[in-house]
Amino acid sequence: MFIDSHAHLEMRAFDRDRDEVITRAKEAGVDYIVTIGTTLADCKKAISIANKYESVYAVVGIHPHGVKNINDLTYESLKEMAKAEKVVAYGEIGLDFFRNLSPRDVQIKRFGEQLELASEIGLPVVIHDREAHVETLKILKGWKGNRRGIVHCFSGDYEMAKKCLDMGFYISIPGTITFQKSEKLREIVGKIPIESLLVETDSPYLTPHPKRGKRNEPANVVLTARRIAEIKGLPLKEVGRITSENTKNVFGIT
Ligand code: NI
Repeated sequence: MFIDSHAHLEMRAFDRDRDEVITRAKEAGVDYIVTIGTTLADCKKAISIANKYESVYAVVGIHPHGVKNINDLTYESLKEMAKAEKVVAYGEIGLDFFRNLSPRDVQIKRFGEQLELASEIGLPVVIHDREAHVETLKILKGWKGNRRGIVHCFSGDYEMAKKCLDMGFYISIPGTITFQKSEKLREIVGKIPIESLLVETDSPYLTPHPKRGKRNEPANVVLTARRIAEIKGLPLKEVGRITSENTKNVFGIT
């Protein structure tokens, strides 16, 4: 069994065949999918999908791309949404200095505020860090809240991974680990204890080899787990079992 710890099932890319996508995941051995709303509208949609499908859980928060649109009402709405039974974390929040769709200073300010909000609500966090490793670590270190959560789609070096682990975070690995050029990521994963790893698809993005070029979907998380099994020299089943346990632990899924 496997859990896709990070997908975006609420995105329009899945409007036409969401049922089939969720069924295919089940058939591939993916027991649960955690879907991450990135805007206020998508958070609402993520919750309604989680309410419809037993195997789906939801995460709410504003993605760094859209934080320029946050106002006081945004946080009030998110607080309300977070009360829903199937909401298991707050996120994805953080910094994206690759695309810079919101100004960097705004991203930094809103990241801090959303960490505080997560503490107040009492949910673990899902962290997004793209080309902002130093700033992300600095903000996480300064965060006074209970550091519980996941650094999703990990793209830092081993030194950063070690710092995240020391702070108590889990590290989630996407399908990029199957890419030929990802030797560095495979080396890092080789050194991170399996007890700290999660697997994810980030669907509809980051489709793993050999399906690159197509839309990604949660069933493909098995390809990522298989690559990790090869790196670790563990049976695939064992990687599925342990990463699922880790995912359940951090999200409080029973
Ligand atoms: Ni994502």
